[in-house]
Amino acid sequence: MIRTATPTSTTVSPASKVMSSAPLDIDAAEFAAKFGQEPFLIGHQLCDHPLFEVDRLLELAQSLPEKHIEYNAGDLPVVVEPGKTPANGLSPDETIRRIRECKSWLVLKYVEQDPAYSDLLESCLAQVAKHSEPIRPGMCSPQAFIFLTSPGSVTPYHIDPEHNFLLQIRGAKKVCLFDGRDRSILSEEDLEQLYSESDNQERNLQLADENRNRCWTFDLQSGRGLHFPVTYPHWVENGDEVSISFSITFRTPDLYRRQVLYSLNDQRRRSGQSPAPVGSSPLRETFDFQSYRIRHRIASMLNRG
Ligand SMILES: [Fe+2]
Repeated sequence: MIRTATPTSTTVSPASKVMSSAPLDIDAAEFAAKFGQEPFLIGHQLCDHPLFEVDRLLELAQSLPEKHIEYNAGDLPVVVEPGKTPANGLSPDETIRRIRECKSWLVLKYVEQDPAYSDLLESCLAQVAKHSEPIRPGMCSPQAFIFLTSPGSVTPYHIDPEHNFLLQIRGAKKVCLFDGRDRSILSEEDLEQLYSESDNQERNLQLADENRNRCWTFDLQSGRGLHFPVTYPHWVENGDEVSISFSITFRTPDLYRRQVLYSLNDQRRRSGQSPAPVGSSPLRETFDFQSYRIRHRIASMLNRG
């Protein structure tokens, strides 16, 4: 069975409930030229927002289900084998309280479960939607993540499946982003593996030595945000201060189609075939996708019955 993150009916309304002024500063021309294709910087007004104070983040961490807090040691190399990221030996609370000295990386996932963070996410994405809808319509599945990292910590090389803007709230990060369209950097097999894995598995990848410098490098300072196109590989190195980042993400219906096609190719490769790259045969892919949707719909009806 293909594991899918089908876009839900959740949509982002244009009403901002939290901030009287727009939280983001977006250059419309740059957004139109680069969204989904190349990384680019935006500005934001969230550095002094009370939702990112340590006591409020501790309260948030205590309210989230355990499975939605991921944390580990942060003094890592750039490349770590999937499934081998070491633990830091602390609890989430201790990790947050001691983030300055405990050399760790912690993420609070799906923070929109808390209504205050949901409102803030909605305010931000309402602004993004004005620019993204003409390019990739159907914004759905809004989700937000908060990353806390110790000075000098490294987030190893990996990929993520959503449209993402990483807003730097406190401290600074060096972000190395690689072109996800280049199959000499990111292979079809890498994408098949991403889309066949469950949400809780790591997305770390191997990075060939000859590709290490073939990246865009950004010095992401507080007050700035960076757009990560979907599945563009990246690794991140924290600066000399504690870092707090707010990641605002969403999906679009075209990503669901892409996910299904890569999952089908993963199944074919596991059964010994050499599937054609996604995007190389639009007619066959339309047939595959529609067949999958029909099978999925019939299976859902039978399960309900
Ligand atoms: Fe990431």
